[in-house]
Amino acid sequence: MNFEEILKSKTERAEAVLAQYLPKETGFQKKVLEAINYSVMAGGKRLRPILMEESFLLFHGEGKQIEPFMAALEMIHNYSLVHDDLPAMDNDEYRRGRKTTWKVYGDGMAVLAGDGLLNLAFETAAGAFAFAQDEKTCRQIAGALQILGKKSGIYGMIGGQTADLEAESGAELTEELLLYIHENKTAALIQAAMMIGAILAGADDKAVGAMERAAYNIGIAFQIQDDILDVTSTTEILGKPVGSDEKNHKLTYVALHGLEKSREDVRRLSEEALAILRSFETRNEFLEELVQFLITREK
Ligand code: IPE
Ligand code: IPE
Ligand code: MG
Ligand code: MG
Ligand code: MG
Repeated sequence: MNFEEILKSKTERAEAVLAQYLPKETGFQKKVLEAINYSVMAGGKRLRPILMEESFLLFHGEGKQIEPFMAALEMIHNYSLVHDDLPAMDNDEYRRGRKTTWKVYGDGMAVLAGDGLLNLAFETAAGAFAFAQDEKTCRQIAGALQILGKKSGIYGMIGGQTADLEAESGAELTEELLLYIHENKTAALIQAAMMIGAILAGADDKAVGAMERAAYNIGIAFQIQDDILDVTSTTEILGKPVGSDEKNHKLTYVALHGLEKSREDVRRLSEEALAILRSFETRNEFLEELVQFLITREK
């Protein structure tokens, strides 16, 4: 199989894992369950669960405890997108080639769907204890839960989204602020993916720290590429509106540095991440190819 075929099968696997943990659409709260499933099963790239499992494999992880964490992180990512698209935030009407959750179910239901996904994520991840055979694995799961909470919270994704919103109006637009936004709104969940994969595989603190640095580079490069595509792509290819950042007066990498330097930095940051991934005793060729592939991704 070539890289694209392997990526496709890993994407399908991530979706199948996720689907196991999604709610059945019954009961008086049926509407919010529909909104949750609508937003999650819309065909995203599933990059974060894939990065998580590949990081787990890099350190020879074994066991099913990785699966609830893969699903949980993708739920948190999807909740962040549902809220990010709301009129009160980026006010976008398309995502993954179809109407955003708030456009279909209304703002109130979209807020609740996001809230519901966040809670379901931690309920799901806590289910990993059921797969633990010994105390060591329990400690790893506890550590992974802490990373999941931190990197998606006020010292992670929510922190980044806060600064991203504030920067729309009046904040001084500095490189430092831009990097804070990119690191937190985007790199933090990628760090969660790669650190949790490593932790659950039993990697030592030094290796987990190295994965955090690699994921920082991958995450910043990923958001720069997202900012580039917001300018250069089309809605058909991207599945979400282009020009969203300009519309919202966002502080983006492209706005601050221009397209050419942005492209150069995606490459440089990805190379730095690759250097870290190649420095471990064991290698994961697919993971390295994936990081390379992201440099030229078109959606
Ligand atoms: C979009 O993330 C939000 C950003 C952090 C740029 P993805 O590009 O991973 O979105 P999906 O899940 O593939 O739709
Ligand atoms: C979003 O950044 C990051 C999140 C935490 C959701 P963007 O606002 O640039 O993401 P898109 O372009 O809407 O996917
Ligand atoms: Mg946004
Ligand atoms: Mg947005
Ligand atoms: Mg964007």
